[in-house]
This record gives sequence, structure tokens and C-alpha cells, in this order.
Amino acid sequence: MKQIDRLGSLGLFDARVPRYTSYPTAPVFSPAVGAAEQAQALAALDPAVPVSVYLHIPFCERLCWFCACRTQGTKTLTPVESYIGTLEQELALLKDILPKGLRMGRMHWGGGTPTILPPALIHRLAQAVRAVIPPTEDHEFSVEIDPTMVDRAKIQALAEEGMNRASIGIQDFDPLVQEAIGRLQPFDITRACVEDLRAAGIRSLNADLIYGLPHQDIARLDDTVSKVLDLVPDRLALFGYAHVPWVSKRQQLIDAEVLPKEVARFELAEHAARRFRAR
Ligand SMILES: C[S@@+](CC[C@H](N)C(=O)[O-])C[C@H]1O[C@@H](n2cnc3c(N)ncnc32)[C@H](O)[C@@H]1O
Ligand code: SF4
Repeated sequence: MKQIDRLGSLGLFDARVPRYTSYPTAPVFSPAVGAAEQAQALAALDPAVPVSVYLHIPFCERLCWFCACRTQGTKTLTPVESYIGTLEQELALLKDILPKGLRMGRMHWGGGTPTILPPALIHRLAQAVRAVIPPTEDHEFSVEIDPTMVDRAKIQALAEEGMNRASIGIQDFDPLVQEAIGRLQPFDITRACVEDLRAAGIRSLNADLIYGLPHQDIARLDDTVSKVLDLVPDRLALFGYAHVPWVSKRQQLIDAEVLPKEVARFELAEHAARRFRAR
């Protein structure tokens, strides 16, 4: 029996599993854990063990139809500035709770689109975090970057604040797929972003790709993989497209009829993985 038939007979293609990128996962959040429990847990941290800090920037200038991340669209910086102000207030509250001497080993800015922040807000936020949790000598600072929503000045500001890892969103380079997911992103713009990141001294570069998108087939994904390999990323994330229009309303703009079915999704993932391993 071929592997794909064996997996089918075990029910792989009938299983419905949720897509989670956080822990603890949202469905297990409960009012039973509130501010008091949070303060208690934070105060009990061992100052000898560096912590990882995640900051979520839930704003995007464009809202891609496929996206299931927690974000909201904005054409102005007004809500973004007010959000940074709130983060600063929250950091001030943390200062009184965290044990003395605690250091930050890792910081990650995700979203949404952290690169919606102009240089002045990048500096303000990075400095506000460092003032409360000073970084270790060898700390990692990674940022999710939308290549269409960044410029040299923002990259420079992030590098000055210590960014040493970057993750760029790609998903797929095929124009038909991009149109069907509401995310137009020419290869040239992505390559220019990669060059700017490398010129700013970023040595660790991740690229996000997705399999299972509308109209994707082996030939289209293969072409995307070739283009991605041309960019020579250090890491790759190949997500399976989670179509959950009842959660992420913007996905209702995606025609479910042109989504690859279960077996085709498996073949797409296998094909991309084979090409990356053969690199
Ligand atoms: C916050 S976004 C990336 C940062 C930046 N906003 C951008 O678009 O380049 C994080 C990643 O989650 C993945 N993602 C978002 N929605 C998804 C979905 N419905 N299924 C699978 N992966 C998804 C995409 O690969 C995306 O690059
Ligand atoms: S993929 Fe990135 S830019 Fe597009 S909506 Fe999601 S977070 Fe925003």
C-alpha cells in the first residue's frame, strides 16, 4: 500500500484539527485566570532564568483575505499610537511586579504587522520594554515583517534597537493565487526587502509560506519554492492554510470551490518539503 493510501486508511484526510500558533490556546482561556493570578505568576519568576517577551501589534494597513491572525485594518496611525501608549502603561505596571534582576533573553514582535510602526514608535516601544526588562548580552530580537509595509528607515530603526532575526511574510508568489487571497506582493519588492535586511546586518531570516491556498497546484507551488530558495532564507515556515471563515470573516472573500482538497494539500506539503530538503 502506498504511504498516501495508508495515511488515508488511518483517517488522516478526514481529521479536522484546529490551527494554533499560541500556547495556551485561545479556547482554554477563562475568566478563572485574571489579573491576580497573572501578578502572582509574574512575581514568582526566577530572576536567574531570562524570559521571552512577545509583543503583538494588531494592526495592518491591508487586510489579506486568507489571514486568520488577530488584527484590524487601519489607514491612520492614530489607533497604533494610542496602543503603544497602552503598552507603555502596562509595562509600567509590570515594573512593580517583576522580580528584581530579571532579564530578557528573547523578544518577538508579531502581528498583525509590526512594521506598520514608523521609526519613532519603533524606538519608543523597544526602549520602553528594555527599561522594564533589560536584555541579556546575547538576546534575540525577532520581528515579523510585511515586505510591502516596510522601508529602509524602519529596518534601520529596528536594527538600531537590536533586531537580529527577521521573519518575512510571503505565502505564495503566483499572481493568480495572490489575487485569490487578496494579497498582492511582487517578487521584486520581496527581494528588495531581503536585501535591505541583509544590508542592515540581519543574519537570521525566516520566510512564511502557506500550502493549500486557492488555485495552488504543484507547478505553481514549485515556482514559488524556487523563488524562495533564490532568496536563501535561513529558516522556513510552511503553514497549512486554515480556512475558518466562521472565525475570520474576511476569509468569506475566498472561493472555497478553488481550494485544494485534502489529498492535494498533502501532496503540496510533501512536494515543498522534498524540494527544501534537497536544497
Ligand atoms: C502576522 S502574519 C505575518 C506578518 C506580516 N503581517 C505579513 O503579512 O507579512 C503571520 C503568518 O501567519 C500565517 N497565517 C496567517 N493566516 C493563516 C491561515 N489562515 N492559515 C495558515 N497560516 C496563516 C501566514 O504565513 C503569515 O505570514
Ligand atoms: S497576513 Fe499580515 S498583512 Fe495580511 S492581514 Fe495578516 S497580519 Fe495583516
